[in-house]
This record gives sequence, structure tokens and C-alpha cells, in this order.
Amino acid sequence: MSNKPKESGVEYAELKYKDKVIKLPIVIGTEGEVGIDIAELRKTTGMVTVDPSFLNTAVCYSKITYVDGENGILHYRGVSVDELVKNHRFVETAYLLLRGKLPKADQSKRFSKLLNEHSLLHEDMRHFFDRFPRAAHPMQIMSTMFDALSTFYPNVDALSMREDIDICAARLISTFRTMAAFAYKRSIGEPVVYPRSDLPYCANFLHMMFSSPVNPYEINPEVVKILNTLLILHADHEQNCSTTAVRTVGSAQVNLYSTISAGISALSGPLHGGANQAVIDMLKRIVKDGDVKKYIDKAKDKNSSFRLMGFGHRVYKTFDPRAVIIKKACHDFLATMNINDPLLEVAMHLEEVALKDDYFVSRNLYPNVDFYSGIIYRAIGIPENMFTVMFALARMPGWIAHWKEMISSQTKITRPRQIYVGKTMKHEK
Ligand code: ACO
Repeated sequence: MSNKPKESGVEYAELKYKDKVIKLPIVIGTEGEVGIDIAELRKTTGMVTVDPSFLNTAVCYSKITYVDGENGILHYRGVSVDELVKNHRFVETAYLLLRGKLPKADQSKRFSKLLNEHSLLHEDMRHFFDRFPRAAHPMQIMSTMFDALSTFYPNVDALSMREDIDICAARLISTFRTMAAFAYKRSIGEPVVYPRSDLPYCANFLHMMFSSPVNPYEINPEVVKILNTLLILHADHEQNCSTTAVRTVGSAQVNLYSTISAGISALSGPLHGGANQAVIDMLKRIVKDGDVKKYIDKAKDKNSSFRLMGFGHRVYKTFDPRAVIIKKACHDFLATMNINDPLLEVAMHLEEVALKDDYFVSRNLYPNVDFYSGIIYRAIGIPENMFTVMFALARMPGWIAHWKEMISSQTKITRPRQIYVGKTMKHEK
């Protein structure tokens, strides 16, 4: 069923080309966003629109997440992220994204139980980890492993998801968590730690990451709380690069595990989820150099490809609301844990200088979600090459929700057009 809102029937944009005037219907979203519907343009005129990198293109109608980039607003299914962080856990947020409503107590209990029941990885899959090079980046391991999961679950498609979305989603969300912890254990040469059925989602992840056969990890409620906050804030962000990858690949009716693998690959890039690791690399270099201005100047230099990592966003032209919450949470958490990280001081100094600099001000470049998150992950003890895996762990419910929405509202494969500007065909005589 299409998500398209009803057209008013009276509002049109007019496109004039040569002696023809084409009327294009106006569509208005529930938060007042206005779009020009060009779906019939090619059929009626033979013309296409050109919009490289989709700077102006709404690729779908969606009911999942709303971002107001001018005013710094973000909500999932009508519930603000501030409210979710204050009063809910990541598992409830995942349910909200998938189901459209926050769970009642019994629904939440059932979903948590499903997450625990489906947390084990197929035992044969565990041996796959042994064949990756020790230095392999965990994001590449995760995308490869998720693609490999499609060989174990070849029939995870639109139909099976419709039958029981909770079970399918729980298996995906839970398996990813187990795999992420296994990938980490593999990278440090320790035996994997299996999930425990008595622990809730975030605590279970920390147990799998940090327990060892000789040293059980003591669950700290403050760490569980901050992990819930970070996962909630990363759980969805409408049509970003990785979600677009998921919706696009999924539109060809690819197995869901392979589809999610494409999302993981897209997220790994430094301009997307990989930025959280890149921010820490940058902050470390600045601490070593002791010269914030040098990096600000480099970021402004058009002859340099260097960018201030964790700054700027395609949609937000003001403060990223996630960054605002994470910055405060970062201060509070480090204080609670009695941690003094020199990177936090440098990050704050860098932010202060950038926000007063005309280059950043005139381009509306503010700290994004990745700017402070890495400092918290470091404080938890998560290694830097796992930061983007943490992002993917959080984004799993968002990807699944978008995939589910796409398969139930979109009937056509995603297939953009182009304007060919290459050589014309030579006709042989
Ligand atoms: N440092 C320095 N200059 C920047 C930065 C930055 N971080 N970000 C953008 N700019 C400049 C660009 O050079 C460009 O300048 P110009 O107009 O003089 O050419 C202008 O600001 C607009 O930038 P675009 O690249 O056109 O903006 P776009 O919307 O395409 O890119 C992006 C957004 C990729 C996030 C960009 O801001 C960036 O590279 N930031 C650093 C990487 C990062 O933090 N990524 C994480 C984003 S959040 C996420 O994906 C989860």
C-alpha cells in the first residue's frame, strides 16, 4: 500500500518548457514539508530531472522518522529523541521504529525475550571469524558475515517478515550484537563469550564484550544507561546513505541479510558512520600537536582534502539535536566515572573555535552526532575500530523498519535515470 498523502487537487507547480506548461502536483507531509511530485514527468514529457547526490530529491514517503534540519528537531514515529533518551530503553525504541508504537509492558517483555532467544549465532558461522586477517576492520567483517548469514537463512524475504516481524527483527538485531562482540574477541585473540539469557540487551552486549573465562565483567548501571542513550540516538535518521542503500538493494527483493550487509558497507565510510572513529584519530593528532588553529586552517584550506571530522551534516543546518544530548551525556558520564580524557577538552576547544569562525558559520557547519560519541565509547572501554560497529548495532532497527516500509509500500525496483554525456555511437559503413 502506498504511503503517498492525498493530493489537495488544487495546488500545482507549473513547469514551462518551450511552448508547453506542465502542471506538477504539490504534496505536503504531516510536518508541513512541501514537495513537487514529478512521478509522471517522464511519461508525459519525455524529460527527466537531474539531481546528483539527491540534494533535492525525496526518494519515498515515509512514516518512520522526521528530521527538521533547520530547527534541529528529530523524532521517531512522533516521539522526540529527548523523550526516548529520558524515559525509554533502546529495545523499546527499536520496537517503536519497527511497530510504530512504543510497546506496552507485556509487549516489551515479549520482545526482550525474543531478543534473548535469538541471540545465538549458528555455530558453523563462528568458524568464519578464524579466516579473517587479524588486522581486518570489524565493519568489513560484519558486512561479510551478514552477507554470509543469507546462506544460513536463505528465505528471509518479504513474506517471512510479514509473518512475524518481531521474530525476524529480533534475530537480526540480536545476531548482530553477538557477532559484533565475537569480532572484537577475535581481534584481541580471546575466546568468544556467549550471550546470557538473564541479561537485558545492553548489559548482555557489555558482558559479551568484556567478560573473559578468567575475569567476569561486572555490569555497571551507569554504563548500561549511557549505552542505551547512544543506541537510541543512532537508531534511525531517515534517508541517510546507508538506509538508502538498504532500501535500494532491498527493492530488488534481495535476501534481507544481504540487504543489511549493503547498509553496513555504506555506513563504514568516513563521511558517514566511519566519522566517529575518524574524529578520535583527529583529536589525538591535535592533542599531540597542541595546535587547534592548525587543524581549523587545514579544514578551511581548499587545497587540502582535510575536513573537520564530526562537523557538518547534509540535513542539519543548525545544531544536530543528537550531538547536543551526547555532549551533555559525555560530560556527565566522564564525571560520574571519574575519567579525565584530554580529548574532551580538545573537542570542546575545537568546537568553540569553529563556531566562531566565519568559514564554519557561513556554511552552517555544527558538530554532528559523531563529534562526542567516540569519547564516550573510549570511556566505556570500546576500542576505536569498533566505534562504527556500535553505530551499526544501533542502526539495525532503523534499517529493518525502512526495509519493511519499503517492501510494503513500494512495488517497483529503485532504478534512477541519467543524462548520458559520453561519446556518441559511431556508425560503421
Ligand atoms: N570541514 C570543513 N569543511 C566542511 C566540512 C567539514 N567537516 N563539511 C562541509 N564542509 C564545507 C565543504 O567543503 C563545502 O564548502 P564549499 O561550499 O566552500 O565547497 C560546504 O561546507 C558544504 O559541504 P558539502 O560537502 O557540500 O556538504 P554535504 O552535505 O555534501 O556533506 C558531510 C555533508 C559529508 C557530513 C560533510 O559535512 C562532511 O564531510 N563532514 C565531515 C565528516 C562527518 O563528520 N561525517 C558524519 C556525518 S553524520 C553521519 O553520517 C552519521
